[in-house]
Amino acid sequence: KAYDFGLVGLGVMGRNFILNVADNGFSAFGHDLDTEKVTALQKEGGDTNKVDASTDTATFVNALSSPRKIMLLVPAGKIVDSVIEGLIPLLDKGDIIIDGGNSFFTDTDRRDAYLAEKGIHFFGSGVSGGAKGARLGPSIMPGGNKEAYQHVKPIFEAVSAKYKGEPCVAYLGPKSAGNYVKMVHNGIEYGLMQLTSEIYDILKKGGNYTNAELHQTYSKWNAGRLQSFLVEITSEILNKKDDLADGDLVDKILDKAKQKGTGKWTSQNAMDLGIPVPSIDVAVSMREISALKEERVKADVLYDRPTVTLMDKEKLEKITEEALYFSFIITYAQGLHQLADASKEYGYKLDIATIAKIWRAGCIIRAGLLADITEAFNLDKELPNLLLSPSFIQKVQSTVGSARELVSYAAVNGIPLPGLSNSLTYFDAYTSNRLPLNLIQAQRDHFGSHTYERTDKEGIFHTEW
Ligand code: 6PG
Repeated sequence: KAYDFGLVGLGVMGRNFILNVADNGFSAFGHDLDTEKVTALQKEGGDTNKVDASTDTATFVNALSSPRKIMLLVPAGKIVDSVIEGLIPLLDKGDIIIDGGNSFFTDTDRRDAYLAEKGIHFFGSGVSGGAKGARLGPSIMPGGNKEAYQHVKPIFEAVSAKYKGEPCVAYLGPKSAGNYVKMVHNGIEYGLMQLTSEIYDILKKGGNYTNAELHQTYSKWNAGRLQSFLVEITSEILNKKDDLADGDLVDKILDKAKQKGTGKWTSQNAMDLGIPVPSIDVAVSMREISALKEERVKADVLYDRPTVTLMDKEKLEKITEEALYFSFIITYAQGLHQLADASKEYGYKLDIATIAKIWRAGCIIRAGLLADITEAFNLDKELPNLLLSPSFIQKVQSTVGSARELVSYAAVNGIPLPGLSNSLTYFDAYTSNRLPLNLIQAQRDHFGSHTYERTDKEGIFHTEW
């Protein structure tokens, strides 16, 4: 019996993914060095003709049909290289290795080139949606050799999430295109998470909202234009009682956010490309500030903070909804702008509409808004920035006023809204036909003869100041 699909790494994600493959009519074989994980999968899979597994690499490889399609769901980093090294001597030319983890995109390019020399195809393929997504339908972002993708396509299309029947997976581009897109997905994820947490904070501090009211508000919002996975789970989180003590769980959770690096990579690479993504940058910074808990506790008592003047609840709820909608749009705009630029820089030939399309279901940043974003990029494939789309002008214009009101209210009352204010500032700067950077050019020329261009004449100028 030759199995259709192989999977290395039978942790929660791997086990769920392989069961999903089997549910969709493909036979699958798993591999993990941990005997317990192998037996657990065999037990859960039920019929070993459909799902089987082994701790032995050769048994695993020999069980697969040709060309072999082997997905790795192992932690990003050196482990990916060592798993690949273990597989290489057992594979045949034309076999396919798919890295489903959050590998750094330059690692993917290196592995792609290395394996291409051996005639093996390599796919860096982001998978989003957490454990539940892996089991029931994730959004999958594959990049690699286009012809080889034809072998993977039927399986990925079957197991992926569906949006109105359409699979949330598509071939995205060569080399590390898939990993790059997943990295920016995570950057946007960081931005949206920061924004939802800021709005939670301001509703509590500016409107004395209880967790029960917050739960209701987020759940109401999730039924409207803010519909999204992150708003939905925020509503659920705010409704969760603590199992270990009295009260609500959210209040007991330490306010130090961890990170595994993908948001930071998005920001770092955006800097390299020269593309501004301040809503994502500040989301990374806020995780870093959150980690400085001990210093924050000391600093808290050193400075006075304004006493918060409460805002009328109805008004606060209206402007927070509008501000959150506005800043979600700005965050997607920045991430997609980065993708459009990276596509040129790295030759990915990305189709932004396709990316927005496969993000409409399954992934962590899925949201009602993505259907509108897909349409905007379908209408204009070359759209450099969502803010230039005619279909977004009204959405942004009608909500930016509330963003202004909320940012000024928060500033006066000493409540940090960095994601929202960075989104607003980005908007104000991006939509300004003249910025004061003429002065920076003059300063550069003044102290370092760095030259400047003029608004009224062609050429490069220098002045003896
Ligand atoms: C997804 C997520 C996932 C990521 C987590 C944790 O799309 O399913 O992006 O890939 O690992 O969100 O990321 P941090 O630990 O950096 O918050």
